Amino acid sequence: MQTDFLVIGSGIAGLTYALKVARECPDKKVTIFTKTTSDETNTKYAQGGVAGVWDNENDSFEKHIEDTLIAGDGLCNEQAVEIVVKEGVDRIWELIDLGARFDKGQDGDYLLGREGGHSEYRILHYKDVTGREMERALLNAIALQPNIEVITHCFVVDIITQHHLGYLVTKSTPDIECFGVYVLNLHTKKIEKVLAGITLLATGGNGQVYRTTTNPVIATGDGVAMVYRAKGRIENMEFIQFHPTALYEHGVKGQAFLITEAVRGDGGILRNSDGEAFMERYDVRKDLAPRDIVARAIDSEMKRTGDEHVWLDCRHMSQERFLQHFPNIHQKCLSVGVDVSKNMIPVAPAAHYSCGGIKADEWARTSIRHLYAAGECASTGLHGANRLASNSLLEAMVFAHRAFIDSIKETPAHALSKWNKNCIPDWRAEGTTAPKEMILITQSLKELQLLMSDYVGIVRTNTRLARAMRRLDLLHEETENLYKTTEISPQLCQLRNMITVGYLIVKSAQFRHESRGLHFNTDYPGKSELVQNIVL
Ligand code: FAD
Ligand code: SIN
Repeated sequence: MQTDFLVIGSGIAGLTYALKVARECPDKKVTIFTKTTSDETNTKYAQGGVAGVWDNENDSFEKHIEDTLIAGDGLCNEQAVEIVVKEGVDRIWELIDLGARFDKGQDGDYLLGREGGHSEYRILHYKDVTGREMERALLNAIALQPNIEVITHCFVVDIITQHHLGYLVTKSTPDIECFGVYVLNLHTKKIEKVLAGITLLATGGNGQVYRTTTNPVIATGDGVAMVYRAKGRIENMEFIQFHPTALYEHGVKGQAFLITEAVRGDGGILRNSDGEAFMERYDVRKDLAPRDIVARAIDSEMKRTGDEHVWLDCRHMSQERFLQHFPNIHQKCLSVGVDVSKNMIPVAPAAHYSCGGIKADEWARTSIRHLYAAGECASTGLHGANRLASNSLLEAMVFAHRAFIDSIKETPAHALSKWNKNCIPDWRAEGTTAPKEMILITQSLKELQLLMSDYVGIVRTNTRLARAMRRLDLLHEETENLYKTTEISPQLCQLRNMITVGYLIVKSAQFRHESRGLHFNTDYPGKSELVQNIVL
């Protein structure tokens, strides 16, 4: 198969890019691969909303920039921050033009929410299902675009570079090029070679590396692992954001239901089991301090009391307003026996967002030619050491747009013209056999998630990181053996990718001899004078 523009991922980043290139280049073919259904993405679960400067009386670009820099704790790329804040509002207008709805007040003005770390009300939202609404608008527009093909249930295994033509490719190879991908077609069960002029990775986050996460099962860090294998650059993987308030359900592991920070923005108060509003002891901004501070405070309260969760108290809030703004949360809470007007909501932190990822420049270009990255899988420098709430949907749209602007400058055939495309080999599956025990993959996955949660969570130490690395080494060895000898499946590929992502998180954490933003190591409690990104 051959295509002009290849997009891996059908979340906000992939869809935004695909729509723009397809409209601009109607004679070119745009192909989107997604590993399950087209709407199963992190984007679909985004609740709080999308940040932007709308209230020109009280808010300003400067304030949004300042809040983003403060949250990023000294590690943001200021150029990236300025780009996202200043260009973001136009991207949101484009989405509104596509039909995306955001809540408005009686006066017809957009209602603005507030979340942790924001000094102003600036978050556009559609009830508590903002991501779903944004994705709906994009998918509808894409369905009407004749030169886009969305191919679901296709698992991209690896990107193709000159390594596949028999050339030695190392981290120091200056011009690594991407020619497309190998993809496991889950309908045919065959691995196909797909050649492309331009490839965009929009593969999302990696929350599934942890035992409890707000991310759906697709969030396994595949794009990051693929780029690392292809010898591209990966950055700042130690900065994993734990959302302070995922719904705690006894015995439930895996994807946890999110209680959006907007609930605290509307007045929700965190309490410990003594009923104390404990955030007052931790930060002057109390419940609306940036996420790293709130998550660490909850972790500390849970460790001190031995409880498995704290409480989010919404009983004093207007219930009519709660129901209007948070109908989905209201419904979910009722389904687990929590009536928010009478009961407090049990909440605990859960892995939520990867601030680092595939190193990408201001045009979303990666270190590999013809390969772009946008959305959660990319590290653009916007988030630094900690992401400001509701900045990621914005970032995804801005950098998908920039990837579009930059990539249409190149003739899409370019990636293949210099090379004889017939020389790129088909996938070789000889010597592999059907897996005898799929359960081995499940067991290794559980081990991985447990070790990452126990040793590489909110609070880290050198000893814990070293323990994690030793266990990862063993899992890596066993999984590579399985990979070499077994017919591949998405489960096996995802396990392999998640072990790589786990390794990248631990290695980056070990390199950072300080505590900054989301990375807190009790052996290095202070900040280093040397402010640097960790690039692997
Ligand atoms: P995703 O939307 O995750 O899409 C990834 C796509 O890649 C999927 O289609 C997947 O199938 C595909 N894919 C991955 N690997 C492969 C592969 N190997 N082969 C083929 N396809 C593959 N951010 C905000 O700004 N505001 C919010 O209110 C907000 N709330 C959130 C609430 C929750 C519960 C969660 C989980 C996240 C939230 N975020 C929020 C973060 C934000 O939703 C994500 O960062 C953003 O949606 C990521 O978009 P994306 O396009 O990069 O990736
Ligand atoms: C939330 O709604 O609390 C999540 C917002 C975000 O992750 O940006």
